[in-house]
Amino acid sequence: MAAAIIPPQSASYNIETEWLEGEPFDWSTVHARFTWNVTGKVNMAYECIDRHVDEGKGERNALHYISEEEEYTYTFSELKREVNRWANVLLDHGVRKGDFVFVFLPKHPHCHIAMFAAIKIGAVVGPLFEAFMEEAVKDRINDCEGKYLITEDSFLDRVNREEIPSLTTIFTTNKTGGVNPSITREAEKASDELETVWVDLDDGLNIHYTSGSTGKPKGIIHAHRNMIQQYQTGRWVLDLKDDDVYWCTAHPGWVTGTVYGVFAPLLNGVTTVIHGGRFSAEAWYEVLEKAEVSVWYSAPTAFRMLKGEPKDMHAHYDLSSLRHILSVGEPLNPEVIHWAYQTWKLRIHDTWWMTETGAQLIANLPTRPIKPGSMGRPIPGIEIDILNEEGHPLPPYETGHLAIHSAWPSLMKEVWKNPIKFASYFPFGEEWYLAGDLAYVDEEGYVFFQGRSDDMINSSGERIGPFEVESKLLEHPAVRESGVVGKPDPVRGEIVKAFIVVNEGFEKGDDLLNDLKRFVKTELAAHCAPKEIEFIEELPKTQISGKVLRRELKKREKVDS
Ligand code: PRX
Repeated sequence: MAAAIIPPQSASYNIETEWLEGEPFDWSTVHARFTWNVTGKVNMAYECIDRHVDEGKGERNALHYISEEEEYTYTFSELKREVNRWANVLLDHGVRKGDFVFVFLPKHPHCHIAMFAAIKIGAVVGPLFEAFMEEAVKDRINDCEGKYLITEDSFLDRVNREEIPSLTTIFTTNKTGGVNPSITREAEKASDELETVWVDLDDGLNIHYTSGSTGKPKGIIHAHRNMIQQYQTGRWVLDLKDDDVYWCTAHPGWVTGTVYGVFAPLLNGVTTVIHGGRFSAEAWYEVLEKAEVSVWYSAPTAFRMLKGEPKDMHAHYDLSSLRHILSVGEPLNPEVIHWAYQTWKLRIHDTWWMTETGAQLIANLPTRPIKPGSMGRPIPGIEIDILNEEGHPLPPYETGHLAIHSAWPSLMKEVWKNPIKFASYFPFGEEWYLAGDLAYVDEEGYVFFQGRSDDMINSSGERIGPFEVESKLLEHPAVRESGVVGKPDPVRGEIVKAFIVVNEGFEKGDDLLNDLKRFVKTELAAHCAPKEIEFIEELPKTQISGKVLRRELKKREKVDS
């Protein structure tokens, strides 16, 4: 495919001055940036907040919160004090280095403060997506026997305390209290001085649960070491500089929301916008205008939804601050890039990475031409190859397994309690990490995504494991068997489609359909709920193991639709 090329726009850093094209990039050159380089110890919270205060930038805005009801900011100094107070409350309640602290909060400064408070005392933070329902919350906390949870009262009905026996303390961010300690009220009385708990680069920082095609979601643990690549990609890929106002639309429960919504911008000392609530075109344009956002990181589904709005909608807003736009999580259609270029006069820079990779690995850099349809090229310091089934490199334009030469600074530290799963990312030996994605490269090294090599579903950039949805459906009394696949969708990329074999005595009507959708939505999470359900007499299965052949269901889906 001869892709139309969009030339580079202005960028604040000239990457060529920091890295010579074609040369390997030595990540250790970034170490000089961090305390670790001097003291041998480090802490992500210190590097994101305190160091800017120490460097005389304390009065700069760190967070800018905008919702329908409220708008306010935290300077780096204010954020430091607030994080210290919350951390002192956590210490008072016994939280110590290495403990898991889960954070189940909406997009709100409290979520950032809670995460940093836990990190600053050496705990491992587990941000949970705000729309998770009871089972999703329970499975994750139980898997690592989490003792601490920070949440708000309105989320408590999704936290089944009896079924999470390891939980010793649930903190609430509401001041009214109740049976649970109110972290905000206790923080008012706590000291704003704190001795940072210094850790090693390889100590645990955060855990995100992520889905594959089999089994329950796995806990991916990342270490403080990630700051090296997160800082550097914030600089090179997000193009962040001191006076930027940056907005990442993802919730920290997803890895993008943590890495590029919390860590990378603050490591670079820029103002980070937090906007509550889900997508609405008007509200989003308003945020871009009101907060004077200059760098904006979002996802293809959102861009496609904006494209679907009346043509002149953007013209009602002053978007003159915006200078750099990025996308991640799912394939970004060339039409969307062209539309954005015409409409906003800006390129959308696609980026590729995964929960497991901890930071961007492939990206369209601001200084490089974009080929719409391509995710860009490996960033400096990253080498990739496309491998065939035997693990041999393929020539340009041949589709195979996207493999990354390991390791890089932000590669996951471990899969929690699951070394076998960890090893499964390296089927051809330690040298190559396999993403599970299929892709080809062109002769200039641009990477073109071609799909997944497994059954993982990607709906609006949210990674959904079919097994988790199938298991939930099986808990419904009407369901004898279930098979779940991703069905192509023009806006969401894919939607969740379920095939159901119904137990005798249940009527296959609309009532049952709606009840099944509601069942998954209320017990697991809205984004996992099947948008389409089809009743089927029998599911295709493998002869030997009797496993559901999702591939067959998917094929049939394509023929039928
Ligand atoms: O299939 C790829 C897809 O999202 C997967 C990773 O999902 P998750 O761990 O939830 O992380 C999402 C964002 C960091 C990948 O294996 N994916 C990610 N970026 C792209 C993408 N697919 C196409 N184009 C992308 N730019």
